[in-house]
Amino acid sequence: MLSPSISRLILICCVLLTPAGFAFANAPVVVVSIEALSAEVETLETQLDDPQTLNRLIAIDDGLTVDQRPGIPAIRGRILNLLGGTGEESALEYVRRVFENQSEFRDEAAMALSLHSYRKPTNLQDWRFLIRSLTVTRGEQTVSVMKALLRYRQRATNSHWIKRVLLQTEQLNEQQRPVAIELLGHWTGLNESDPETAMKADLAFYQNWYAQKWPEEQPATWPEEPETQRWKYAPLLKTLDQTIYSADLLEQGKAVYEKASCAKCHVKGDIGQNFGPDLSGIGALRQRSELLEGILYPSLEIHEDYPTVTVLSKDGKTISGLLSAGEPGSVKIVDPKGKATLIAQSEIEEIQTSSVSNMPAGGLEQLTEQEIIALFAFLQHQENSKKPFHGESQDQ
Ligand code: HEC
Repeated sequence: MLSPSISRLILICCVLLTPAGFAFANAPVVVVSIEALSAEVETLETQLDDPQTLNRLIAIDDGLTVDQRPGIPAIRGRILNLLGGTGEESALEYVRRVFENQSEFRDEAAMALSLHSYRKPTNLQDWRFLIRSLTVTRGEQTVSVMKALLRYRQRATNSHWIKRVLLQTEQLNEQQRPVAIELLGHWTGLNESDPETAMKADLAFYQNWYAQKWPEEQPATWPEEPETQRWKYAPLLKTLDQTIYSADLLEQGKAVYEKASCAKCHVKGDIGQNFGPDLSGIGALRQRSELLEGILYPSLEIHEDYPTVTVLSKDGKTISGLLSAGEPGSVKIVDPKGKATLIAQSEIEEIQTSSVSNMPAGGLEQLTEQEIIALFAFLQHQENSKKPFHGESQDQ
């Protein structure tokens, strides 16, 4: 056995001497062609038994985190899948770190973890990652994640996750849907309590089930997008995904953030007011698709720390807004203009939570495509962070 320090030295030498010439992130990066990278990964794929291969794959992937050339996501997806497929703890740890720290690769990382979880459905942290990934996975990734979730005995039973599976089911094609329906059967308990009904159940069945169980929630379906709506989810996301973001968009993005009133409710770095969630680090937490979903359809998934309530007071007044901690014996409601009302608990007749977000929909309608692109550059930029965000050009 080599001592850890010697193996580490060997690893570093290997990394520095490899033909591809990649080093760890933050070291000067030598740009290697996509073809050369693909070729190297292909070779490494045949050498997975060699302990150095995993380290090398990790080093390559780590070196690509700020590279935004078009072929990179496919290569990284492949590397992450290879790492997940090995089931080796060091490889899985790396994939989990990617899941936590690089929102744009969360779907690929979840796919990789699903390959391992499917064979060994025991790690509860992975179970949580898989569930969380259902806001970002697409198509075959969703299928793979759901297959893995089906292997766990654990069931997600709250409205939030059931709704997510229902929304995902709508996006899957006919061949892909059965796994989603089975997962719904597993999580709702219907597979066990009433297998015959579960066998016949389809998406509409579970949508009705959901509506009956949580009548106060918005229906678990994708919002209709009327012709008159200028910015629609899928085409706009495609445009945003195809954009190469450069740091010189940030100033314009900041101006759009103020123009579109985002700053009235959200702190971001050194601007904005604190009504909704602080968006300073949102780029690391959420993928672009999630941000777009949250902005176009705020009520589809309301942030759990920001419930909307309507308070009916005993003297017949109603006050709506965000519920926040008041002094003991009272509650505080803040309306979107920032006006706070304190109401004594003894004055309250009823508090109703609402399924409509405090954030207005339609915030993008007045913006041009260029303005939206700049806004996203600004939103995804990590305030107070030295590491460039995924999608920021390399020479910044
Ligand atoms: C009137 C206040 C208000 C305005 C204006 C507003 N928001 Fe929000 N926003 C909220 C509140 C409250 C929430 C949390 C509740 C929810 O999730 O719907 C929220 C949630 C969000 C989220 C989800 C955060 C997360 O953790 O996932 C994003 C992203 C967001 N807003 C972006 C924007 C952008 C961009 C604009 C400008 C186009 C904007 N908001 C305008 C109040 C506002």
